[in-house]
Amino acid sequence: MGLRSLVSFGFVLIPIAVTISVLLGIQAYRESKGLPSNPFVDNSIKSSLYCQKAFGVTPYTNGQQYTFWAWLWAPWQGSAICRDFVRFSQPGYAFRPPTLIGQNDTGTNHCSSNVKSDVAILYRNPNQWALPDGYTGPGGLCMNVTTFDNGSYPTKTSAAEWSITWQFPRGPPTQPVHAFPNIKLDSTVFPIEISQVSAINFETEWYYGVGDDRPNVLNVADLTAAQLDANVAVDMFLDSDPKKATDTVQAKYEVMIWLGQFGASTQQIGLPQGAIATQVVNGTTFSLYSGVNGLGQSVLTWVASNAAGGVQTFNADIGPLLQGLTGLGGPTVNDYLGYIAFGSEALDSASNVTFYNKVLSMDVVS
Ligand SMILES: *[C@@H]1O[C@H](CO)[C@@H](O)[C@H](O)[C@H]1NC(C)=O
Ligand SMILES: *[C@@H]1O[C@H](CO)[C@@H](O)[C@H](O)[C@H]1NC(C)=O
Ligand SMILES: *[C@@H]1O[C@H](CO)[C@@H](O)[C@H](O)[C@H]1NC(C)=O
Ligand SMILES: *[C@@H]1O[C@H](CO)[C@@H](O)[C@H](O)[C@H]1NC(C)=O
Ligand SMILES: *[C@@H]1O[C@H](CO)[C@@H](O)[C@H](O)[C@H]1NC(C)=O
Repeated sequence: MGLRSLVSFGFVLIPIAVTISVLLGIQAYRESKGLPSNPFVDNSIKSSLYCQKAFGVTPYTNGQQYTFWAWLWAPWQGSAICRDFVRFSQPGYAFRPPTLIGQNDTGTNHCSSNVKSDVAILYRNPNQWALPDGYTGPGGLCMNVTTFDNGSYPTKTSAAEWSITWQFPRGPPTQPVHAFPNIKLDSTVFPIEISQVSAINFETEWYYGVGDDRPNVLNVADLTAAQLDANVAVDMFLDSDPKKATDTVQAKYEVMIWLGQFGASTQQIGLPQGAIATQVVNGTTFSLYSGVNGLGQSVLTWVASNAAGGVQTFNADIGPLLQGLTGLGGPTVNDYLGYIAFGSEALDSASNVTFYNKVLSMDVVS
């Protein structure tokens, strides 16, 4: 904890030099006693549930900053779910306030066609689910984020624990994904030319279970019985234009790494054409699939050989998975990486399921 954080606690009215020396004394004393160094912050742990409004949640931290998002798509064409949209003027950036871009599906293509958009909205609903007032069908999604008041997570790059509980009916084959609740790395390193990246250190531990509570095991038979269709994936965007690389809609390339793949509907783009490459990353074998999505983006998906069982703990430098893609429909090392997130694409499920991301750390090292 440095001077900046001490000064920012509102002591500017007292002579700064005196204040800082007093505070440094308090800090040293408290640290020597094993107390949180900042006397105004305690060590409490809090869980917050987000169901009902558009958000990007950026918890306070002493280390690497992350933002939690829940992107919802509107797969029910022409239905009430299309009434309210918010659009983040700069997709991927946490601090821009959302802008309302439409009240209904007229004049926007976000609802009326199979278009992936940067719509991030959770609707107000009496039952706390993320659905519009006018929608009477089943389903919804809530996100639970567990934060440390002191901002000191286990490592400098550790994220807060989070989970999502959701249920959606099956969507049309043209738009089977209902939501991508995710945690995004907020780093000033973006956009970065791939050739300048020395490592992308990624570590996770996650669980998927049936019901509303955070699971501590993953039982594939239970997920199958719940008719879960979902993946668990790292999502990255790249482009030759550094600005477009940070924009999940405008970027030319999307590179995904699937650690979980549940249900027959959860199919990577390019599956019918078969795998076009394989690569082993710290003991996990990945197969590469390539194709084009509804936005015209080239999508390259690395699927872990045991994704159907769930690669629940994974710790590796995933940088090599961005290399050697040029001949396979992917970026060159002179393209820019502008975005990395980790989450679960939620397709459908017959009962409530909970994805729990207990450990997450992402670090792009230049
Ligand atoms: C911050 O709070 C967490 C959760 O209570 C605790 O485990 C950790 O030791 C605290 N860190 C510091 C530096 O006080
Ligand atoms: C949708 O919005 C447009 C423009 O805001 C308006 O002209 C139209 O009447 C609205 N349609 C419905 C069905 O509400
Ligand atoms: C959020 O998760 C925490 C930790 O598992 C749990 O104690 C809390 O009940 C959850 N909140 C809700 C509203 O489900
Ligand atoms: C490879 O995985 C092991 C086991 O999780 C981990 O201890 C190690 O740090 C990982 N190596 C790299 C280079 O990430
Ligand atoms: C699903 O979760 C919601 C919100 O926690 C709850 O109201 C509902 O009863 C659950 N449904 C089932 C079938 O458990």
